[in-house]
Amino acid sequence: MIKPLVMNIKDKFRARLVKEYLYSNIYMYCKKFYRPNRNFLIPFEKDKKFISKINEKVNSNNFFTKRKFESIYELSIYRNFIYNYIRDAKPSLVLETGVLHGLTTSWILKALLDNKKGKLISVDIKRADWKKYFGNKKMGPGYEPDLKFPNYEASGWIVPDYLKKNWKLIYGPSKKILPKINKKVDLFIHDSDHSYSNVKYEINWALKNNPNTSIIIDNYDMNSYSFEFLSKKNKDYYNPKYNYCLINEVNEDLKYYDSAILIKKI
Ligand SMILES: C[S@@+](CC[C@H](N)C(=O)[O-])C[C@H]1O[C@@H](n2cnc3c(N)ncnc32)[C@H](O)[C@@H]1O
Repeated sequence: MIKPLVMNIKDKFRARLVKEYLYSNIYMYCKKFYRPNRNFLIPFEKDKKFISKINEKVNSNNFFTKRKFESIYELSIYRNFIYNYIRDAKPSLVLETGVLHGLTTSWILKALLDNKKGKLISVDIKRADWKKYFGNKKMGPGYEPDLKFPNYEASGWIVPDYLKKNWKLIYGPSKKILPKINKKVDLFIHDSDHSYSNVKYEINWALKNNPNTSIIIDNYDMNSYSFEFLSKKNKDYYNPKYNYCLINEVNEDLKYYDSAILIKKI
């Protein structure tokens, strides 16, 4: 009995930290990009339908140890930051690489629904094909394979059905799929293979597709590409018109760190 109770207190405490850091991340974003300080999370946190539909999906299998989320702040700063960003920027087309369960996908689709505008294209490698593409190479967050994600499962299984109408999921490695996309992407979100060459490929593709696109890179410090991109030494891409802001995260041990980066033109 005592263990679930301690977990519950920890989750609640973490949710408070997530909310606190998130609000300051949003404030920093608004300051850096000269946006009015608009916080769309206040109405979002009151939306009971969204979290209850996520919980319904969570309870459709046994992948997650946690069986019920009480609030959006029990999920990551990253996802909620993206929700707020999309509400503010109102992109017509978002493209994300790396779906897995589909948590971030759900937050993106909810923002597009609330905007009454915009579509999402997601690119992911089928779970059943991981062996073919990665062999025994580690991938995913911390380069650890998510072993609790069984072979038969579809990417984005957690996405609530009422959000799927603005969504297209394309299976395959980003290097094969992205060249086939001929629509202009306003927001590009990288969360697939965090190797230097793949991040470089995806970001170059996104900028070629639309030089004014905004870019979010999760786990941006897993290789040096984001730093190189922003470096003044980088003659190809350094552009004083670009700015960036960091997106923090609070881990299970309640430690806070920089986890993702948003790069866009001012
Ligand atoms: C870190 S997980 C994505 C997590 C998800 N964005 C979220 O926030 O919940 C990584 C995903 O990237 C996919 N992936 C890895 N390399 C890829 C590639 N080259 N192209 C497309 N997807 C890839 C994997 O199949 C896996 O589902």
